[in-house]
Amino acid sequence: MSKKVSVLFVCLGNICRSPTAHGIFRHLVREEGLESLIEIDSAGTAAFHIGKSPDSRSILVAKERGIDMSDLRARQVDLGDFYQYDYVLAMDEANFYHLKEVALPEHDGKIKMFLEYTDAFSETEVPDPYYGGAQGFDHVFDLVESASKGLLEHIKQEHL
Ligand code: 4NP
Repeated sequence: MSKKVSVLFVCLGNICRSPTAHGIFRHLVREEGLESLIEIDSAGTAAFHIGKSPDSRSILVAKERGIDMSDLRARQVDLGDFYQYDYVLAMDEANFYHLKEVALPEHDGKIKMFLEYTDAFSETEVPDPYYGGAQGFDHVFDLVESASKGLLEHIKQEHL
């Protein structure tokens, strides 16, 4: 069988936004029975939170919406990721430019802004909710859920 289509979600700490994307997208992929065809992971550009569970506020918002992401653990992006993953999706511009800077030119086309996969919101970035209130985590979930649905449709059309 050919290689799975692979997706890596990237934010700064890998404890709020990218694990939320990982958890939501994994849930959608499972709902459609596509686990054997799509590989999913998430990572942070920074090393601060390596090995940690997602932020409890992210876990709670996801749980309220029927998604369990408590099993995920933070890791940092490494150069091997650019070989392994077909889609390397940045939550914000800082993450995007960081990835562009460390990747080889041949991998440049894999790096995209995640919100390119939704047109339901005017924002182009998923805002960092870490230092804000609970409302920020709800908004992250809404943005990420919408882009996750768009990404799955895109992958189904392009690859499956
Ligand atoms: P994330 O959020 O990039 O969505 O995981 C953050 C988590 C931690 C920090 C910043 C953003 N921090 O500065 O520790």
